Amino acid sequence: MLFKKFDVLWAWFVRITTNWLPDAPCFQRFRGRLYSLAMRRCGKRFQVASDVRFTRMRNLSVGNDVYIGPNTVFLLSDPVVIEDEVLVAHKIMITTTNHTPIDGSFRRGAGKSAPITLKRGCWIGAHAVILPGVTVGRGSVVGANSVVNRSLPDYCVCAGLPAVVKKRLEVPEGETSNAYETIQSK
Ligand SMILES: CC(C)(COP(=O)(O)OP(=O)(O)OC[C@H]1O[C@@H](n2cnc3c(N)ncnc32)[C@H](O)[C@@H]1OP(=O)(O)O)[C@@H](O)C(=O)NCCC(=O)NCCS
Repeated sequence: MLFKKFDVLWAWFVRITTNWLPDAPCFQRFRGRLYSLAMRRCGKRFQVASDVRFTRMRNLSVGNDVYIGPNTVFLLSDPVVIEDEVLVAHKIMITTTNHTPIDGSFRRGAGKSAPITLKRGCWIGAHAVILPGVTVGRGSVVGANSVVNRSLPDYCVCAGLPAVVKKRLEVPEGETSNAYETIQSK
């Protein structure tokens, strides 16, 4: 409870006290365990590399076997859900917030936030940006340097600025996915 209340301080404390550890799985899991104390929910074997920055960790829910790569930044004004086996590569920006102007200035305007979901087994490529309100589909890939401003379907390779579906991936046996058709028809 206390960790959640002071989640900003706790995230800062964990980052500066563990940054010297090598990016080996055992140390990354140790860092994940420490961060998990301030999170909404955390599954097993959460791995966090060095130099990852989180704000408002209490809004973060993570499933099992999730990996977060070095130098990734999370701005968590709204809930972010990361399902099982999601791979977040290096230097990614995940932000739930846009700003609105007051008297022609964005500096003092209120933030406008929306939740983000990264569905099971997806892979976010290096330097990608995930914008507010977006869902990345199950087992999908977001290409390096892409900007995701709309939800992406299951089992696809998506890339570009903005990210669009480049090709479909095989849907695992026993699974169905209508997300592609649903999103395309919107
Ligand atoms: C997306 C990626 C995995 C390639 O997947 P793939 O299944 O081999 O896809 P292809 O190379 O056949 O690309 C399919 C289309 O997407 C385009 N594309 C692929 N990656 C792209 C990117 N990052 N940005 C823009 N377009 C991209 C290709 O040019 C191709 O377009 P075309 O059909 O018009 O020729 C790879 O390009 C990528 O971005 N990897 C990220 C690597 C990374 O971040 N590693 C960090 C370690 S975790």
